[in-house]
Amino acid sequence: MLEDTVVTLLQRLYYHSRLTYRHSVHVAAISYQLAQELGLPKAQVRQTFWGALVHDVGKLTIDRSILHKKGPLTEDEWQKMYEHPREGCRLLPEGDDWQAIREMVLYHHEKWDGSGYSGLCKGEIPLGARIIALADALDAMTSSRPYQKKRELAAALQEVKECSGSQFDPQLVEALFSLTMHLLKGQRRPTPSKINEILKRTTWTFNSNEL
Ligand SMILES: [Fe+2]
Repeated sequence: MLEDTVVTLLQRLYYHSRLTYRHSVHVAAISYQLAQELGLPKAQVRQTFWGALVHDVGKLTIDRSILHKKGPLTEDEWQKMYEHPREGCRLLPEGDDWQAIREMVLYHHEKWDGSGYSGLCKGEIPLGARIIALADALDAMTSSRPYQKKRELAAALQEVKECSGSQFDPQLVEALFSLTMHLLKGQRRPTPSKINEILKRTTWTFNSNEL
């Protein structure tokens, strides 16, 4: 079952790197909301959610000392980091159910202008991977990391805006701003209980308030 495999991988991530686990859950929550804001069909929204939950699962193959390092990474360490989308794709099962999710994982470090890891650009990048890339960057900017202080949401949104059309798909940046307006007005759509249930299954101590 796809759902069980995702939960098992997330549990492994939880024990390997709490930082990466928390990031994955945040990115999944943002991606889910973005996919809804774009008006994608339910099945695609759900698939994007699954893809976002496992987008960094390749980091299971990277030593915790590298993932949590406070100082700058060496060239070798960067090389290992660059491999994580490919490693993540390798860790996922093959088969029709997984094809779209595998592509999201493989291409989540692409940039709209083609300057990402594999050089795909614009519409060549699967939509799910573009959504995850934006959610990933937003969460990275607004969370504390061993090597950086977290930024306020307004500053992060400003940076996203400046990178619209270069790093990010402009249509998705628009959707993010419209989503933010809805959230500010308290118009957040409720997360379906099924999604909350999946998030809770990933760890016994998961607290949905962390979202
Ligand atoms: Fe990543």
